[in-house]
Amino acid sequence: MGSGLPGGRGMRVAVVGGGIIGLAVGADLLRRGADVTVYDPAPDGIDGAWHVAAGMLAPGGESVFEFPRLEHLLDASNARWPEFAAGLGDVGYDDAGTLGVALTADDVTEMAREWRHQKLSPLTGSQLREREPGLSPRVRAGAYAPDERQVDPRRVVAALRNVLHGRLVPRLVDDVSALDADAVVVAAGCGTAALTGLPIRPVKGQVLRLRGEPGLLTHVLDGAADGRHVYLVPRADGEVVVGATQEERTDRTPTAGAVHDLLRAALDLVPGLAEHELTEVTVGHRPGTPDNAPILGRLRDGVFVAAGHYRNGVLLAPITARLIADLVLTGTADPIIDDFTPGRFGCA
Ligand code: GLY
Repeated sequence: MGSGLPGGRGMRVAVVGGGIIGLAVGADLLRRGADVTVYDPAPDGIDGAWHVAAGMLAPGGESVFEFPRLEHLLDASNARWPEFAAGLGDVGYDDAGTLGVALTADDVTEMAREWRHQKLSPLTGSQLREREPGLSPRVRAGAYAPDERQVDPRRVVAALRNVLHGRLVPRLVDDVSALDADAVVVAAGCGTAALTGLPIRPVKGQVLRLRGEPGLLTHVLDGAADGRHVYLVPRADGEVVVGATQEERTDRTPTAGAVHDLLRAALDLVPGLAEHELTEVTVGHRPGTPDNAPILGRLRDGVFVAAGHYRNGVLLAPITARLIADLVLTGTADPIIDDFTPGRFGCA
């Protein structure tokens, strides 16, 4: 590693990991004048969690019961998304909002807890169907979350790769101290554990992609059907992403049970999806931490970490990029980062 230059223009920064977080951090640093190199074993590949992710930008529906301070970070990043997306071109950003939906009385009881937490007004089944006519007549109740959005993570990554064109190096880094740079940012998702000793574990998620006539759905749906949790993310081109399992497993095997459960829940909520083509079954691993909040901050002199984003890698990309770039280039960042430092796990 180099001796270190004062922060700012010309600083040589190595980013380890070319997923959505590493690319977003690298792009922010580059825009602010750093000399950035992003290392990834397959910088043009599709191995990252981003390739599987549906791209829900759902601060209300995610993680709020597990780590309350995470809510502020999710909201702050959600607020940055319109500008972040605009800077990348057409990345499928859509702000139609999310409909929470529940099929049975038990599903209503369970989902209502989340809706109350988000301070959303309940909607009846017929009010929901006025907004989203493709919903089953069996859907009993729901709620509308106007601030929840969606984006296509595959298009976001393509756009960020474009920004970093010529700076993506195909290399598997196994020792960050061997990198010739003034600063290193480790943003290697689940691979961050082996590089840093931080407690990050893979949490398997299986996700389906369906395709049919555009327009069957216009909102993201997030709900429960007979006890099965599911979200549906409709794209303008007719793709509908259906997710996701959450399994403490490391394998990459798509399973019949998961496909069955996801399809069953999706079709119970939106029967018209039965005519869609099943185009993809994908498996990814979310990088989970012991408190399921990300790890953001300085690990040691010249080494920073941006990892462990668990279910919120896409949503948290803009705020992560800004906080980590600030820290690398200026030595300080907004105090919102203080709850997420590696220090809470006894590191740094
Ligand atoms: N953010 C949704 C998921 O991880 O499944």
